[in-house]
Amino acid sequence: MSSVMSPVVNVAMSAIDVTIRPCASHRDLQTCVELQRRVWNFSDADIVPAALFVVAQHTGGHAYCACDGGRAIGFALAFAAWRGGSRYWHSHMVGVLPEYQNHGVGRLLKLYQRDEALRSGIDAIEWTFDPLESRNAYFNIMRLGAIARHYLPDCYGATTSPLHGSLPTDRLLIEWPLRARRVESAISGRSGGSYSFENAQHIAVPSAVGEWKTGDPERARQVQSGLRRKFTDLFSRGYAVTGFRRGDENCEYVLEPYED
Ligand SMILES: CC(C)(COP(=O)(O)OP(=O)(O)OC[C@H]1O[C@@H](n2cnc3c(N)ncnc32)[C@H](O)[C@@H]1OP(=O)(O)O)[C@@H](O)C(=O)NCCC(=O)NCCS
Repeated sequence: MSSVMSPVVNVAMSAIDVTIRPCASHRDLQTCVELQRRVWNFSDADIVPAALFVVAQHTGGHAYCACDGGRAIGFALAFAAWRGGSRYWHSHMVGVLPEYQNHGVGRLLKLYQRDEALRSGIDAIEWTFDPLESRNAYFNIMRLGAIARHYLPDCYGATTSPLHGSLPTDRLLIEWPLRARRVESAISGRSGGSYSFENAQHIAVPSAVGEWKTGDPERARQVQSGLRRKFTDLFSRGYAVTGFRRGDENCEYVLEPYED
C-alpha cells in the first residue's frame, strides 16, 4: 500500500523477535486500528480509522507496524507536514501493546521512522505528548534526544481514553531534529540532555501523577495547571526542555535557553 520502498528491519530482542515494516495491506491497517483499542482503550469516537492511515500513506506520510513473528504488537502513524518552507513529518501516533512496553519496541519504531525520514530527504519529525507522563518524557527527551518549546493547552479537547483521564489534553510539542548532535548522541546511548548550563531551569512533576489522572483527577488537574503556567512562562522567555530526570517521588524537566 505504501508507495515508498521501505526496508523491513528485524531485531532479535531477549524474548521477542521484532520486525518493523511499512503496513502493506488493508488488513495491516485494520490491525493498527485494533491496536489503538488495546493501547489507549479508545472508544470508537476517538479511534483513527483505517481510511486516515491510507490518506497518510498516499500523501507522503506513513504507517509502520512492529510485529513479533506474525503478531502486530505496535505501530507508528505519521502525516506529511509543511512549515516555513520546510517539509517534516508529524507523527500522530506511536503505540505498543501494554505487555510489550518497556522492551525497546517503541524506540525501534522511532529509529525506523528516523531512518526512513532521512532516506526521504526529511530531517525533522514532530509529535505531541502529555507532560504528566514521565515515561513518555524520558523516552522522548533522553532516549531520543528531542526537545520541546511549545505548550499546547487542551490540544485535542476531551478524549475517551482512560490514559488521558478527564483532564484537558495539554501537550508539549516535541521537535526531533534528526541530524542534530544531541539526537545522534542520545540514540547512540549517550545522554541527550546536558545539565551543565548555569542558567538551567527546572520544573518538577510528581512521579505518580500519571496514575492520579484516573485515581485522583482533581490532584492531577492541579499539577497540570501548575505545569501549564510554568512551561508557558519559560517557553515565552526562550527556554526549551532539553533534559528529564527520573526520581522515585518526583521527576524533573530541565530547561535551557535554546536557539536553533
Ligand atoms: C510510549 C510508548 C510508545 C513507548 O514504547 P516502549 O516500547 O514502551 O518504549 P521503550 O521500551 O523503547 O522505551 C521506554 C523507556 O521508558 C522507560 N520508562 C518506563 N517507565 C518509566 C517511567 N514511569 N518513568 C520514566 N521512564 C520510564 C523505560 O525504562 C525505557 O527506557 P530504557 O530503554 O532506558 O530502559 C509505549 O509505552 C506506549 O505505547 N504507550 C502508550 C501510548 C502512548 O503514550 N504513545 C505515545 C504518544 S502518541
